[in-house]
Amino acid sequence: MTAQKISSTLSGLSVGPHRIETPVYLAPMSGVTDLPFRTVAQELGAQAVVSEMIASGEAIRETRGTLKRARAGTGAGPHIVQLAGHDPAIMAEAARLCTDLGADIIDLNFGCPAKKVTRKLCGSALMRDLDQALAIVEAVVAAVDAPVTIKMRTG
Ligand SMILES: Cc1cc2nc3c(=O)[nH]c(=O)nc-3n(C[C@H](O)[C@H](O)[C@H](O)COP(=O)(O)O)c2cc1C
Repeated sequence: MTAQKISSTLSGLSVGPHRIETPVYLAPMSGVTDLPFRTVAQELGAQAVVSEMIASGEAIRETRGTLKRARAGTGAGPHIVQLAGHDPAIMAEAARLCTDLGADIIDLNFGCPAKKVTRKLCGSALMRDLDQALAIVEAVVAAVDAPVTIKMRTG
């Protein structure tokens, strides 16, 4: 899905108390989109901002890094947390944890091409195993009431 398509899907969307009117959002960037960065982006007009990618295995161990990356901001817009992983049950548990921590939307990372991610069959590697990708989507959607989005590569 192109960024433009995701933007138009997100624009005009209501998530809990949040309404996304403008198709301007901040893409998830590992090592970049931490809470201060997301807060500045929101102040500059981004209505939807996404956390850094969080490894689901780390998330369910509730490591300090996970808790920090999943932290909700000022409440000025929906809190979107991006999860990466391969195991549907672990992804589902991680999604539950993140919504308990305040995530309004769970985004699944099916696009990261980094070797340290794809060699664990996560990120864009899932586009070679659509049955596994579908099992993850089904498990996460069943686990949380929050909307679930996917960021993927089409080629
Ligand atoms: C430093 C950096 C880190 C990124 N980390 C993530 C990530 O954690 N999850 C993700 O889905 N995409 C990640 N991306 C990809 C971006 O979200 C985005 O899709 C990509 O930069 C293309 O957008 P652009 O054409 O506006 O640059 C990252 C990109 C950069 C430059």
